[in-house]
Amino acid sequence: MNECGRLGDHIRSHLDTRSGTFTADRDAMVAALADVDAVVDTVLAAGGAKYVDRHHERGKLTARERVDLLLDPDAPFLEIAALAGAHEPDLTTPGAGLICGIGPVSGVDCMVVANEPTVKGGSITPIGVTKQLRALEIADRNRLPVVALVESGGADLPRQADLFVPGGRTFREMTRLSAAGIPTISLVFGSSTAGGAYMPGMSEYTVFVRGQATVYLGGPPLVKMAINEDVDDETLGGAEMHARESGLADHLAADEYDALRIGRRIVASLGLPAAPTPAVVEEPAYPAHELRGCAASDHKRSVEVRDVLARVLDGSRFDEFKPLYGTTLVCGFGSLGGFPVGVLANNGILFSEESQKGAHFIQLANARSVPLLFVQNITGFMVGSAYERGGIIKDGAKLINAVSNSTVPHLTLMVGASYGAGNYGMSGRAYDPRFVFTWPNHRIAVMGGQQLAGVMSLVQRRSAQRAGREYDEATDAATRKAVEDAVQAQSNAVYASGRVWDDGVIDPADTRTVLSLALRAVHSAPIEGATHFAPFRM
Ligand code: COA
Repeated sequence: MNECGRLGDHIRSHLDTRSGTFTADRDAMVAALADVDAVVDTVLAAGGAKYVDRHHERGKLTARERVDLLLDPDAPFLEIAALAGAHEPDLTTPGAGLICGIGPVSGVDCMVVANEPTVKGGSITPIGVTKQLRALEIADRNRLPVVALVESGGADLPRQADLFVPGGRTFREMTRLSAAGIPTISLVFGSSTAGGAYMPGMSEYTVFVRGQATVYLGGPPLVKMAINEDVDDETLGGAEMHARESGLADHLAADEYDALRIGRRIVASLGLPAAPTPAVVEEPAYPAHELRGCAASDHKRSVEVRDVLARVLDGSRFDEFKPLYGTTLVCGFGSLGGFPVGVLANNGILFSEESQKGAHFIQLANARSVPLLFVQNITGFMVGSAYERGGIIKDGAKLINAVSNSTVPHLTLMVGASYGAGNYGMSGRAYDPRFVFTWPNHRIAVMGGQQLAGVMSLVQRRSAQRAGREYDEATDAATRKAVEDAVQAQSNAVYASGRVWDDGVIDPADTRTVLSLALRAVHSAPIEGATHFAPFRM
């Protein structure tokens, strides 16, 4: 039986916000959030005072200031992969030197991609390539126009080997977006060399700032080295030259503000529909801040996921599907920010019944063309001989088939563990959800660190036995600890988001706002449910 009773279609949460468990869980979440906030502060500081001050003294705006001025006043900005690069030990390129996110420009939701010139001259790092490609993928799948705010020293030269080959794809994706009818606009604010030069080169519309934008394949030193020509910046790739001679600049802007104004005007002229705003939205019956105490500080302890849904769905209302069957997977329809949504949420480990129920529910959401929200807190599918005999692989495959072939937009929210094939069955990153957001307590790996270290120890012990070798227990203990520590370090929320395995770590209290914005963005593209799935193994 669930802890949470249901009153009609209104979820009645029994979360005891005065209990010691709630307080401990909330305190653990707040501590994890502080770790995330420390990285966010570094990202917000861009290149740091020295480089930001120098940039301002040159009369230029930082990337974040440009983004703020581009977006409609007081508009929300759904930032993507803000923590990219945070897995690197010294965080030398906060945010990977790039700001990406969705926000309204002249009323139209756009994907904004802005180089941060105060971070290594706006050069593109390896993880910056990953982040930029993810942003363009989101633009593609949701049919969002791209506005690039360009000022980039091209490839991060000392790390070129890690980015050169995949980096070429960014320009391919820009032109493919165009070909798919998704407008691309580049506003060029400063030096844009080589890779930086191809952003305007591949865009449909370009705006260059007079006296600032310099765009060339190779700068004056390279030209001198290659062909022994002495040439200055302006003559080689200045805005005036590109506006009057090369034809790369469509508009010559008087200054940065003028460029942003022209950019907004171009978006306004595209004739695209404004971002949808649902009329009346009923708020949940429970306060959002309580979400900080809705996840267990210990991943081995189960929590009631309906407590999360009660604080996220409109009016805390939920039409639950098969509540008495496959009870560790909660499925049902509701709405979020006024947008209809089907929900699949883990309430424990996945068994055969849950897998079948999930596969059935995904087909229903596709039949209705309703987007799906996957709420992941999953340690995996059930293992053991009874379950193997019961066909857990076959049933898990049904869920993975349904997830893989579903064509409605998927949003994935990770509120705890995301281990093993449970990650796949619940629309993990490899299954192309439109957006993936995580809470600060999130852990992601093939399995928990303790379990993984234990499995490796058993495998090595058996191998020693077979070879007739004596097993060294002291080495085993040390190896187990090292493996466990490594898995722990490589599975936490900051590390995962640093590698762009998700689109961002969010404060649980902001869940509803973030998911509403994501749902708004998915409505920029038509939503059509799948009519075909692969044969379901019976
Ligand atoms: N790769 C790695 N680091 C780079 C870089 C690049 N492409 N471009 C700049 N940086 C670093 C600089 O080394 C410097 O680091 P430091 O302060 O730790 O010494 C920092 O970024 C700022 O560069 P700086 O030249 O002081 O800034 P600027 O604003 O005056 O000029 C550029 C910025 C981009 C115009 C200039 O640095 C430049 O021309 N870079 C080389 C561009 C290039 O040839 N790219 C080829 C790509 S294939």
